[in-house]
Amino acid sequence: MLPTIGELRPWADPRVNQINRMPMHATIIRENRLSLDGEWSFDLFSHPDEVDSEVLSELQANKTVVVPGNWTMQDTGDFPHYTNIQMPFAGSPPDLPDRVATGVYRRSFVVRDDWRQLQTVLCIGGAESVHAVYLNGKFVGYGTDSRLPSEYDISKFLVTGENILAIVVMRYSAMSYIEDQDQWWMAGLHRGVYIESRKEVCIADIVCETDFDSKKKLGSLTVDTEISFRGKPKTGFVVRTRLFSPGGKAIGKTHSVTVPHIADQPYFFIGHKTNFSRVVNNCAAWSAEAPNLYQVEIQLVAPSGEVIETVRQRVGFRRVEVRNRQLLVNGQPIWIFGVNRHDHDPDKGSTVSIEDMRRDLEVMRRHNITAIRGAHYPNDSVFYDLCDELGMYVVDEANIEGHAFNTSICDDDRYLSAFVERGARMVQRDRNHPSIILWSLGNETGYGANHDALAGWIRRTDSTRPLHYEGAIFHGDKNRISKSNWVDGGLHASDIVCPMYVPIDAIRKYGDDGFGTRPLIMCEYSHAMGNSNGSLADYWQVISSTSGLQGGFIWEFKDHGLRQKLIDSKTRLAVGGDFGDQPNDRSFVADGLVSSDCEPHPAMHEVAWVYRPITSEIKKESGQTKILVTNRQSFVGTESYLASFELLVDGVVTASGNLPNWTVTARSSKLFALPCRVVAPTKSEVHLNIFWRLKQESWFAPKSHCVAWDQLELKRKPKAVLKVARRNNTKNVDDSSEFEKLLVSPVELFLWRAPIDNDGYKLMPELFEKQGTGSKAMQTWRNLGLDCRSSEDLVRHEMLREVRTGGREVDFFHHVVVPKSLDDLPRVGVRFSLPDGFDKIRWFGRGPFENYPDRNSGSILSEWTAKPDAPPYLVPQEFGLRTDTRWVEFTSTKSNQIVQIEILQPSSMHFSATNFTAHDLFAAENQCDLKPRKELIVHLDAAHRGLGTASCGPDVLEKYRIRSGKFSFAYRVTVR
Ligand code: GAL
Ligand code: MG
Repeated sequence: MLPTIGELRPWADPRVNQINRMPMHATIIRENRLSLDGEWSFDLFSHPDEVDSEVLSELQANKTVVVPGNWTMQDTGDFPHYTNIQMPFAGSPPDLPDRVATGVYRRSFVVRDDWRQLQTVLCIGGAESVHAVYLNGKFVGYGTDSRLPSEYDISKFLVTGENILAIVVMRYSAMSYIEDQDQWWMAGLHRGVYIESRKEVCIADIVCETDFDSKKKLGSLTVDTEISFRGKPKTGFVVRTRLFSPGGKAIGKTHSVTVPHIADQPYFFIGHKTNFSRVVNNCAAWSAEAPNLYQVEIQLVAPSGEVIETVRQRVGFRRVEVRNRQLLVNGQPIWIFGVNRHDHDPDKGSTVSIEDMRRDLEVMRRHNITAIRGAHYPNDSVFYDLCDELGMYVVDEANIEGHAFNTSICDDDRYLSAFVERGARMVQRDRNHPSIILWSLGNETGYGANHDALAGWIRRTDSTRPLHYEGAIFHGDKNRISKSNWVDGGLHASDIVCPMYVPIDAIRKYGDDGFGTRPLIMCEYSHAMGNSNGSLADYWQVISSTSGLQGGFIWEFKDHGLRQKLIDSKTRLAVGGDFGDQPNDRSFVADGLVSSDCEPHPAMHEVAWVYRPITSEIKKESGQTKILVTNRQSFVGTESYLASFELLVDGVVTASGNLPNWTVTARSSKLFALPCRVVAPTKSEVHLNIFWRLKQESWFAPKSHCVAWDQLELKRKPKAVLKVARRNNTKNVDDSSEFEKLLVSPVELFLWRAPIDNDGYKLMPELFEKQGTGSKAMQTWRNLGLDCRSSEDLVRHEMLREVRTGGREVDFFHHVVVPKSLDDLPRVGVRFSLPDGFDKIRWFGRGPFENYPDRNSGSILSEWTAKPDAPPYLVPQEFGLRTDTRWVEFTSTKSNQIVQIEILQPSSMHFSATNFTAHDLFAAENQCDLKPRKELIVHLDAAHRGLGTASCGPDVLEKYRIRSGKFSFAYRVTVR
């Protein structure tokens, strides 16, 4: 039994948020810190009641684990568990399962003698789920909220010499019901632990509030500094404040104020707080584009004149407001080029280092992502430091998600104080960060009185940031819940209309209706599960052209696969259920734009294009072709980028050059003349590529990195006229071509694709029924037998061949009639395979990366060369397509043979060439199960269904579906 709290069981009571946890404050870096990170002794018990109190003061243990770290990732026999909406155990709030794994961490430390005279504070960066602290066997305190730090005054428990600290962490608690985010349930001390020595009188908190008047270029700052006295407050202390410019120059004079004492005026006493305010003329404002940071230095001075403490805070001058259906920063609307980000690492789970965070930010920024929703909890404060410094807009979200009890917990008063405390502590810790532009009340917890209480607290405490809460836009009247009615919730708890996974038509309607006062920014959209993110460009076409819409946050940045050792020394990236975790939601956890190891999935290239800071388009002006360049940045011109062009005739560059005079000021457009003369044969197609590259190396990419590009069509190829094959020439099938002799498997009609997650959840077919999300396509296709029957049996198909030039050339003509019953097919095309050795691909079409009909706007039409793609997705599925291909060529590095395919009709087709068949991909559950074949499997598609985002969101748009009817296509194959 745990001393002091064992009988009270605070972990089982949602009303107990903390015992002896110190008040929250802004992150303050002090000199006297002792990190306790590293190896700790560790024992695991099956329940808090089972903890043997003796172990709390013993260093001997069964195991050691590393802090920060999840014990679920460190061979303790207790594993990660993945669920999305459902809780990992049965019951209703606040019931707990019989087994509540409880880890007892211990380590010793010695504090310097001089510290013992002072105040010593223990800081626990984050513990999942709740924790209790014991020092030298004595109870110190108890804390909740796994994603915020907890501090305890341990001074009176310290002894001279070795001290034994024990932190007891319960894996589940009453609070688990409001930490039911869609991620792995982990356990342990996943953020750092340290102790810190504070002076008897010290700076307890600093609240910096800034504003920026963009018209007058005037910044203003107020700094409230709170002083804490250990023991009786004394008089005569002074707080000195100075402000420094981004370049380190002092601005104005040092400001000194005496710390008030309660004896002065008890009725008006508001604490030991001093106030500093200053205006800055010609102020360099903070924005994600120009993250100018000033610095405030605060000194606490004793009555003797001695400086007791000097601390610093970085501040950015900026104003965030919602006006006329727009979210404005410094008076300008901004685009939310956003993603949702979880803390995730495939080896460390939810423990991420500053380098990991920085790499995430680099990869984001390299793909033009400039806004992050911290889904769904506050991060370590160093994350916000990075965002302040590098320039990212952030939504800081309270660690509140009660998804499994979505509509009840929000009104459950047993959880009221937890809601308020979580949100309040987040604001108190994070409010000095300029990168944070919105406070979010949490995620997927319905909308209730508990939210209103929290919203009221935040509005009163920090009026400089608008509120964001998805639940509050449609969960207002519970008798009328309807997703399209985004005003149901009223205005109290959200200043942004922030729906998730809404169809394009719905956002367009919101914009066009001109209704209400709030802008629409999707808190989640374009679900990146597997081969996905179809129609991103369609979303942005509407967002950029409809008032009231400002963008959104793609779900989500990274896959959450966990590296797992298998018996045969293989490893895999595990998903739900792979650890024997029950119940689970399998691969729904792998839904990122980048892999678990932060490798961009192909969709990231489309994201980079859709989110590009500069766009170029063709504009006809009095009969002349001009180029309209738009700078989508809100504050800076295009000067840091160098524009250049390439003229492509049939995919080959015929002219190119730099365009140093092309510059456009912030948020404006400018017309430019064509950069070169366009000369091309009549039958050719002509494209103009415009690139914008970094002039200098930047924190996220080297010099010359391309931040924006557009390909403009100057001249379309005249339509090909299908030469109908003469039957008598093709009747003789024995008359086979060199191409056909070469094939490992013949040219055959092919209608099936290995379902992508958006077609259906192959690993959890029941999820569609259970959750109402996902698509039925996969099921329908399988019921039709697409995956196992020959395509010839399903549709009418006529194939005509014409062998020419003694077998070196062969033309194929296909006529396919798809019946009504097969409406909405995955693909209509052919498949064949080339022998081992064909591993060089050259083509004229969209590339260089994988692209699909509804995800190819950023893919440039050109001549490209590549090796066959490796499967990019954790759960094997269709991949590797290249759309709009005019010709493609395969070279064998073994035989030097070249197989060239020229598309005759229509003018282009889609192709893929990989070492996997659709059946190989469909049969495998995990990337690690796939074995590449030696042969090259080639698909040529006349039509390929778009990707959409139906794994959690709208299915493929009508214009990217394959409807029943006639399909004719033809191509010429030459072997050299
Ligand atoms: C949303 C939720 C996210 C995640 C996503 C699906 O409903 O807010 O946390 O579950 O769906 O991947
Ligand atoms: Mg959820």
